[in-house]
Amino acid sequence: MPALSVRHLLGIKYLNEQDIQLIFETADQFKEVINRSIKKVPSLRDITIANIFFENSTRTKLSFELAEKRLSADVLNFSASQSSVKKGETLIDTVNNILSMKVDMVVMRHPNPGAGIFLSKHVNASIINAGDGAHEHPTQALLDSYSIRERLGDVAGKKVIIVGDILHSRVALSNIFALKLQGAKVKVCGPKTLIPKHIESLGVEVEPNLRKALAWCDVANMLRVQNERMEMSYFPTTREYTQQYGINKEILESLDKEIVIMHPGPINRGVEITSDVADSSQSIILHQVENGVAIRMAVIYLLASQLN
Ligand code: CP
Repeated sequence: MPALSVRHLLGIKYLNEQDIQLIFETADQFKEVINRSIKKVPSLRDITIANIFFENSTRTKLSFELAEKRLSADVLNFSASQSSVKKGETLIDTVNNILSMKVDMVVMRHPNPGAGIFLSKHVNASIINAGDGAHEHPTQALLDSYSIRERLGDVAGKKVIIVGDILHSRVALSNIFALKLQGAKVKVCGPKTLIPKHIESLGVEVEPNLRKALAWCDVANMLRVQNERMEMSYFPTTREYTQQYGINKEILESLDKEIVIMHPGPINRGVEITSDVADSSQSIILHQVENGVAIRMAVIYLLASQLN
């Protein structure tokens, strides 16, 4: 059976192109399963997975839980805000206590970049990074590329613009790694203050003008401004941000082609995207969410097949 080149999914940075294709081919099979009347397979009946979330989440948390249940794994859900972390317990102690209950795999979201990498070096379980600060969100990037492949047939050669708060976005970094590995052309667009210095070293170009960026691309991935990661203002007002970097129907209709609109969620309607765009037939936002379950099933299944 083909296997991933990694034991943990800590970031797209650690995958190769074959890993991504294997995840997509496995997800194709699981997508077929979750569209049947009986949406479950018995593949992981002997596996226990803990979802430990130190940060809020709707899509990722529910999607992982559903993916695990569709694979028939036993599932533990841990929310840091209701746990003994509040009494001062460390991350390693917390996870080792969970693992002593015979847990095989940990899915973790954490506000600190590198938290998953740190954990993988200190505990004996397979770790999946469900978002670590402004670092990586690998399953989001996988489901994003998978959704582009589904809508446009392929990712190679496609032109993708990532718009918004690139500086604080783990989605942007993981998407850049994933898209470049698959041979897509990538540009980023946003206020200069929200574009990381030296981003060109990742093989992407900066296009400061949204209309030019949209005229160039096949796909626009609109990102939320991550106010929770900002300690100061990066642009004058939300209104001015929306005027320069928000997408609306009038802008889309001024293009001479139909582009695909993506957003990882949660959306700030009326800020980076208007409702008439988010809810239009050009938007694949809810397809991204749907594909998240199949992608996470594939990642869990492939990592579980490497457990002793
Ligand atoms: N896209 C994403 O990570 O959403 P959540 O924060 O709701 O999980």
